[in-house]
Amino acid sequence: GHGDSHVFVILGASGDLAKKKIYPTLWWLFRDGLLPPKTYFIGYARSKLSMTDIQKKIIQYFKVKAGEEEKLKEFFKLNEYVSGAYDRIEGFAELNKVLQTKGNGNRLFYLALPPSVYEPVTLNIKAVCMAKGNHWTRLIVEKPFGRDLDSSNQLSNHLSAMFKEDEIYRIDHYLGKEMVQNLMVLRFGNRIFSPIWNRDNIASVVISFKEPFGTQGRGGYFDEFGIIRDVMQNHLLQILTLVAMEKPPSTASEDIRNEKVKVLKSIQPPDFGNIVLGQYVGNPDGEGDQKLGYLDDPTVPKESVTPTFATVVLFVQNERWDGVPFILRCGKALNERKAEVRLQFRNVSGDIFPQGAVKRNELVIRVQPDEAVYLKMMTKMPGMTFECAETELDLTYNFRYKDMKLPDAYERLILDVFLGSQIHFVRSDELHEAWRIFTPLLHYIEQNKPHPISYMYGSRGPTESDDLMSRHDFKYSGTY
Ligand code: BG6
Repeated sequence: GHGDSHVFVILGASGDLAKKKIYPTLWWLFRDGLLPPKTYFIGYARSKLSMTDIQKKIIQYFKVKAGEEEKLKEFFKLNEYVSGAYDRIEGFAELNKVLQTKGNGNRLFYLALPPSVYEPVTLNIKAVCMAKGNHWTRLIVEKPFGRDLDSSNQLSNHLSAMFKEDEIYRIDHYLGKEMVQNLMVLRFGNRIFSPIWNRDNIASVVISFKEPFGTQGRGGYFDEFGIIRDVMQNHLLQILTLVAMEKPPSTASEDIRNEKVKVLKSIQPPDFGNIVLGQYVGNPDGEGDQKLGYLDDPTVPKESVTPTFATVVLFVQNERWDGVPFILRCGKALNERKAEVRLQFRNVSGDIFPQGAVKRNELVIRVQPDEAVYLKMMTKMPGMTFECAETELDLTYNFRYKDMKLPDAYERLILDVFLGSQIHFVRSDELHEAWRIFTPLLHYIEQNKPHPISYMYGSRGPTESDDLMSRHDFKYSGTY
């Protein structure tokens, strides 16, 4: 009905993710009037805390502006906190009592929890916390969804025995980013791209993720997973599917996700000869944190060979992409923060200009920072010359959409859960395929412990990665 309430339950309310991402996101959505009327928030965790304690921990992340004090008070009036164990039904029965005080309505459960408690928590939700009557229950889950194909399948089987696929929202926050969502419009809303979006015209595709900082105290978590699980298997592979997929019959979420799965099914696990793994070391001339290497993090085991950098080449073996390398490259403690997609076109045929004068076209989608789409192209150097010059058709958002504030990925995604849109969430078969692609490499790394190549904190990463890329038909032009 119209006046139904919504209750958003944050499981793991005292944790890092809740503090840094979920509570602030809920506040921004509430502040901006984007949530349905009668939305309540309930935090749940083991610690015996009060909502005031929680408030003190989270408020610093809210970025409250002058004039918002009243709104903020209103927000906290809608919040409650319940403490209880994750593996005991009594706690959830208690939670349900509080849920019932909010009237009949829809329920959203955000599992901001370590995966080790996913099973008991979901069993308990299913047993005593489901919405009643014709109201819905939705579950939001975050990576890590297991650590390889088997463990992920086990988790999926567990979840699917209790919840329908349309009740499960697997977050990959890269799917909430403006430029990642823009890929579909760019590709399917422009006549000019579709005829050239294929192996005949595109030489290579590079999808990069670079961060200028190291593990920042998350070394314990990170060391168990490594950069491939942390970033490549999810964020970069998701971007790849959006770049490579065929046009779906419509923009309905199942139509889109069907096409994404087809791309993944066309990818074989990477050849171990086509990978470069790296681990950062401290830079003695660097500043502060930069002096410290990965192994200097006290939460990282001294002999760890976990990669903090990886370049992997994948091939989409279908008619459109056969033979085109998709190069995924990601790393921590590098020289800059940047995430982008770079499609490099083949050389012009029958080139009439002096050798080397004409550079390849590139279409770049810069995801962050400073969102942009630009096309590198050749033009005549203006003036009394007939030389070729490389220039850009540049759609930088800061110029084109001045003063427009782009919403944070989590804002869009959490709102999508309220609205019931799964377009930007990962379906279970996508997850399965993603693990199928990377599990052989992950197991190989764990069993053989190949030594990652050392690279300096603040550098571009191992030069071997550049060599691998040029072996796969990626030609440098300018700084990259
Ligand atoms: C997370 C990874 O998924 O993405 C982090 O676990 C990484 O290691 C983060 O720092 C990057 O997200 P963003 O939105 O800052 O690019």
